[in-house]
Amino acid sequence: MARGRHPTRIHIAPPNEQAAAKYLFRWPGIDLHREPNRFPALTSPDLFGNDRPLEIDFGCGTGMLACGRAREFANVNFLGIDLSQKPLYCAIRDAGALNLDNIKFVRGNFNEMLPLLRPNTVAAAFYLLPNPPQDYHKPRANARRRNFLQAVHNALAPGGRFFFASDSKAFFRCIRDILLNDLRCEILNLESAGWDLSTYYWRVWEGQGRKVEGCVVEKKS
Ligand SMILES: C[S@@+](CC[C@H](N)C(=O)[O-])C[C@H]1O[C@@H](n2cnc3c(N)ncnc32)[C@H](O)[C@@H]1O
Repeated sequence: MARGRHPTRIHIAPPNEQAAAKYLFRWPGIDLHREPNRFPALTSPDLFGNDRPLEIDFGCGTGMLACGRAREFANVNFLGIDLSQKPLYCAIRDAGALNLDNIKFVRGNFNEMLPLLRPNTVAAAFYLLPNPPQDYHKPRANARRRNFLQAVHNALAPGGRFFFASDSKAFFRCIRDILLNDLRCEILNLESAGWDLSTYYWRVWEGQGRKVEGCVVEKKS
């Protein structure tokens, strides 16, 4: 991973038992693989016990986007998923400080959680500033990306939106091409969506003068 993208640099204590119980699931890949039925679906009824719209941030990092939106939209539920523990501890600290009841986080690999998505249940999905990989040209890696994007698209409710942004031109093109050519999605630019998508890394890269490119797909009704 490139310098500046490594989450172990963060210094933060683990959440207390109460905060962890309220906000955090830990779902190891091996358990998801062996016993998928043990886990709740990634839906509002299963995770929050209500029918509110659900937004999912795949690779949420420190949860800046999810916590900000959860604070702004109290009638929407938010799920942030990340592999890395320390950024999630920051997210839980912030959710607790804001006393949010409409947000949860999962520590684990979102690729292993795709079977837990349900069709037409997600109001918005975010895949923002992922670490740019080096394997854009490998068919196997792109097949995995296609699988992820297809699963997320299937899970979107009619009119639901998928947001993607990257500071890497090559990775942006890779994902955009899969959306356009394989999933046959219509792609809009982010400005037309009119959403404020403030994330930690978005701010960092733009602060360093790097260009961030983004796009949005809206699922047809
Ligand atoms: C560069 S950070 C971006 C975080 C956040 N979206 C932002 O814009 O500030 C990428 C995050 O994606 C997480 N990540 C990468 N692959 C993942 C996967 N397969 N499952 C869950 N999290 C993943 C990493 O742990 C890291 O925290």
